[in-house]
Order: sequence, then structure tokens, then C-alpha cells
Amino acid sequence: MRIGILISGRGSNMLALADAIREGRIPGAELAVVISDHAHAPGLSRAMERGVATLSIERKGRTRREHEREIIAALQDHRVDLVCLAGYMRLLSPCFIEAFRLSILNIHPSLLPAFPGLDAQRQAIEHGVKFSGCTVHFVDETLDGGLIITQRVVPVLDDDTPDTLSARILSEEHKAYAEAVALIASGHYEIEGRRVHCISHQERHSS
Ligand code: GAR
Repeated sequence: MRIGILISGRGSNMLALADAIREGRIPGAELAVVISDHAHAPGLSRAMERGVATLSIERKGRTRREHEREIIAALQDHRVDLVCLAGYMRLLSPCFIEAFRLSILNIHPSLLPAFPGLDAQRQAIEHGVKFSGCTVHFVDETLDGGLIITQRVVPVLDDDTPDTLSARILSEEHKAYAEAVALIASGHYEIEGRRVHCISHQERHSS
């Protein structure tokens, strides 16, 4: 399975996936390309330093459709099977989603469906929840509303700021994303309604 990762900034989730692939924790996966919509995204140079193919595709006054067309073409050129959004801060249009139906994943820093959209960690603190976390989900036409693949939970402490909570969630994000991509790459899952089930070794061999 050839993986393409879209980033906009720091790229720590992208690096966590790159490490997991290199260390064989995502069997059968290959990192095909990292694409950023910002030429100066720190994650882009970090990917380059590791010898990963990188592209910067900025929007530069073009329409969303034109920008997305170029990204889709680049993903197709690199024969990408699975697109992972890793801090990619743009909404994808229905055309993009259709081009990679059930083959786009996103990581979000809250326990969805709570706190979708921007500033999820601040939203969690302001709401007063005692636990938050991260969610890896399939991307559909809704805002952070696609089928949930995996979640990890962290406590919200009384003296948390958005920064301290973000840091606690981020280290769980790195584990959750690699686990979720490994599940999808293995094909050992099934979808029933909104539920994404992991199919156990026993179930696979008894059917
Ligand atoms: C991560 O916390 C990710 O969950 C979040 O942006 C950060 C990117 O960090 N994404 C969103 O909020 C998307 N709605 P990274 O660039 O170091 O991976």
C-alpha cells in the first residue's frame, strides 16, 4: 500500500508515520510522497532530510478546485493508495473525497464527535471535560465526522493550558495514527453502519 501524506506545518504525525513504516510497524506500507500546501512548512524539510519524496503545492491565488486537481494528480503520479492528512489545515472538496473514497484518513486532537474543527484542545478545556484525546477517522464530506477507526484518551488536568493538553494528546496521536494506518493497510477490518471493526485472526480464518 502506497501512502501519501498531506501536511501544512510541523509534520510530527507525518514523521511518526514515516518512522513506523521504516521500522516495519505498518507491514506492506511504503511512504510514496509527502505534500505540503506551504512551501516553508517545517515538516517538508524534515521529510526531505529523511530522503522522502516531497512536493510543495501552494494554492497561490488559484481556485480550490485547481489546487486540489494538482494535488490529486501528484498523488496519482506517485501511485498513492491511501492519503493520510497529518495537520493538513484545509477542507477537502467532495471531488477530492470521491477520488479517494474510503482511502483518506485524518487525525484530530479530540475525542470526536466532541470538539470538531479548529482549536479542539482549547474547546475541550473551555467545555470543562475531564478527558480528551485523539481520533483517527476516515474523511467524508462532513467536518471531522467520518467513520472512526481508533481513539486514544488522555486526562485533562485542572491546570492545563491548550499547550500542555496539546502536548499530552500529541504523543498519543503519534501512536494512534500508526496503529490505525496499520489496520487499514492490513485490510483486516470491516464496516458495519458507522462502526469500523477490527477482524481478529480467528475470525479471518473461520470465515
Ligand atoms: C495535530 O495535533 C493534529 O491532530 C492537528 O494538527 C496538529 C498537527 O501537528 N490537526 C487538526 O487539528 C486537524 N483538524 P503535526 O503537524 O505536528 O502533525
